[in-house]
Amino acid sequence: MKFMKLSAAVFAAVKSVWTRGSPFAALTALWPMNDEGKYVIQAEGIRLAFSNHGAALTNLWINDTHGQEIDIVLGLDDARHYPFQTSNPVLNGVIGRYAGYMSGASYEADGIEYQVTGNAHNGTSLFNGGDEGWGRQTWDIATHINNSITFVLFDRKWNGFPGIFASCLTHTVTPYQWRIAFGVTPLLKPGPINLSQQVFFNLDGFKSNASHQILDHKLRLPLAGLRFDIDESGIPTGDIKSNKKGGEHDFWSGSRLVGDAVDEKAVECVKSGKRDCVLDATYMLSHKELGDKEDQAAAILSSAQSGVTMELYTDHDALHVHTWSQENGEVGLKKKQGSGKVPTNGAISLEMQDWPDAVNHPEWRNRKTIWGMDGLYTSFATYKFSVEGQQKGQ
Ligand SMILES: *[C@@H]1O[C@H](CO)[C@@H](O)[C@H](O)[C@H]1NC(C)=O
Ligand SMILES: *[C@@H]1O[C@H](CO)[C@@H](O)[C@H](O)[C@H]1NC(C)=O
Ligand SMILES: *[C@@H]1O[C@H](CO)[C@@H](O)[C@H](O)[C@H]1NC(C)=O
Ligand SMILES: *[C@@H]1O[C@H](CO)[C@@H](O)[C@H](O)[C@H]1NC(C)=O
Ligand SMILES: *[C@@H]1O[C@H](CO)[C@@H](O)[C@H](O)[C@H]1NC(C)=O
Repeated sequence: MKFMKLSAAVFAAVKSVWTRGSPFAALTALWPMNDEGKYVIQAEGIRLAFSNHGAALTNLWINDTHGQEIDIVLGLDDARHYPFQTSNPVLNGVIGRYAGYMSGASYEADGIEYQVTGNAHNGTSLFNGGDEGWGRQTWDIATHINNSITFVLFDRKWNGFPGIFASCLTHTVTPYQWRIAFGVTPLLKPGPINLSQQVFFNLDGFKSNASHQILDHKLRLPLAGLRFDIDESGIPTGDIKSNKKGGEHDFWSGSRLVGDAVDEKAVECVKSGKRDCVLDATYMLSHKELGDKEDQAAAILSSAQSGVTMELYTDHDALHVHTWSQENGEVGLKKKQGSGKVPTNGAISLEMQDWPDAVNHPEWRNRKTIWGMDGLYTSFATYKFSVEGQQKGQ
């Protein structure tokens, strides 16, 4: 029996080296996964699970203020179902090599115009890295220990991009804390990079409120005094607007109920004929000039029902705040979260990113959009959790 198990693992390892061409493919097959096909990491007060498809976060468990264990992110029960997700980006997965739209499906680097394979607007633009984007790839696992996992991916000119990009993503948990470190090394040719991971949260784990919505969550964005203007189709115009105190976009002067912010948009939503009224805006993060970017939270989200508070720290300069819309496609709750579909405004994502569409706005002087062999692309995000009535180390 033991021999059978081992030879199956060796066979899987050989097969993955053959099909994925990554030096880490052999290792991947040997790391332990749970019976849902997921890779679990844990520390005091927190436990996460991932699928190696899209390196997607599948579960995030925490104990609420009543001592009940809840799972506060959207995801699928069975990791084997992720490859069949047709959404782009794949639910809670990585978005890359270039997240967002790249208009013209082309860009310029070192005076050369590069054309890539478009997958949006009849192929005239590239969306979220293209049809073979990083959220749709099987990642390899370089290391997997109790509290840390490192995913690696070698992008071999997929989607028409020149050059091989080696990407490395490490998730680490420490007591009540989850940290993501992104790193990309361009090999052979420089190119644009915009890496993100969009995670949808419901801090009640869909448990306490019959409506399953996050309208009672409180949100504060202390660094978000400005936002990026968009046109009717959601494309950034290049203009930057101010979020005046007391106005619709004021999340900096104090915390606000998500439900109140959604209500304030209602008139505008009806006017534009949208079925779902949700929050969807990209805010500029004005970090302290000389401060450490880990000093100040970019976002603070909390729920009185579960007593859970989540703080997000990041070195990115923008934050896309988006509440779940069924217009993005329908997703069911996980078995332990309940039954039925995730409703509109059932979850919220706080997606750290660079200034939107910067590659097409050269007037934003000195924004770095192209990375070459001289510059490793790195960024981080740290989510810190606290639960009312619970203390670290108890
Ligand atoms: C929740 O509490 C139980 C009981 O103390 C513990 O076994 C479990 O590991 C906790 N869950 C998390 C995610 O910390
Ligand atoms: C996309 O292509 C189809 C068929 O070729 C055409 O009917 C449609 O107008 C095109 N749309 C745009 C936005 O170019
Ligand atoms: C990590 O997991 C191993 C195997 O399950 C266990 O023996 C070890 O004590 C764990 N280490 C820590 C620091 O929790
Ligand atoms: C759930 O949330 C809605 C919207 O905020 C609120 O009206 C309702 O009273 C809540 N229900 C429960 C059971 O807490
Ligand atoms: C990066 O990707 C996000 C989507 O994940 C997008 O909204 C943003 O505009 C992109 N940034 C740049 C600089 O293109």
